Amino acid sequence: KRSFRIAPSILSADFARLGEEVRAVEAAGADLIHFDVMDNHYVPNLTVGPMVCEAVRPHVKIPIDVHLMVRPVDRIVGDFARAGANIITFHPEASEHVDRTLALIREAGCKAGLVFNPATPLTWLDHVMDKLDMVLLMSVNPGFGGQKFIPATLPKLRAVRARIDAWQAAGGQEIRLEVDGGVKVDNIAEVAAAGADTFVAGSAVFSAPDADGGYRGVMGRLRA
Ligand code: DX5
Ligand code: ZN
Repeated sequence: KRSFRIAPSILSADFARLGEEVRAVEAAGADLIHFDVMDNHYVPNLTVGPMVCEAVRPHVKIPIDVHLMVRPVDRIVGDFARAGANIITFHPEASEHVDRTLALIREAGCKAGLVFNPATPLTWLDHVMDKLDMVLLMSVNPGFGGQKFIPATLPKLRAVRARIDAWQAAGGQEIRLEVDGGVKVDNIAEVAAAGADTFVAGSAVFSAPDADGGYRGVMGRLRA
């Protein structure tokens, strides 16, 4: 009944051919482009910023899902909104004023979400449910693609699913539940059963062998 969405992460794409890569995953059936922003400060890696988001934007029609792994958060929000981001998520412990940052994202015209590291407690959800369009659970520690799925994410997913369902049953707005890290063809069913509806897949998609149908082939197997 829930609609499942696949969000390929550009972190594992060929950055020298990024326009071509995002067009290829869109053509292969991707629902979102997951855009990983790392600052070598909040996380131990450095990727790309609003300029690259703006450059990618005209290549696809699907929404761009910007995952901010940066500290501070607020001053980069407007830049990503102007660069064509549709969804902006951030890590609550990286923001001085979580409620304000969520409001800033929505005022900029984007959907807003909080990201939880494997050991970040869900208490950050307590007072901001009405300001969320998405919750993103990290199933690896942020910073790198190609890591192994941390199994403790499954009970955490079930807990967030229950909170979202209760919220919506009480008349609350729709909140999507996304999972990020180590999602592969062989574990996605289990992750979906735990309650996720949106699946980031970086290495699983971008390392898909041509012999197995390339990006389209793996996207089909992820959805199956
Ligand atoms: C990790 C990033 C993820 C990463 C996922 O910090 O937020 O989006 O690219 O890559 P895979 O799917 O390879 O674990
Ligand atoms: Zn991510």
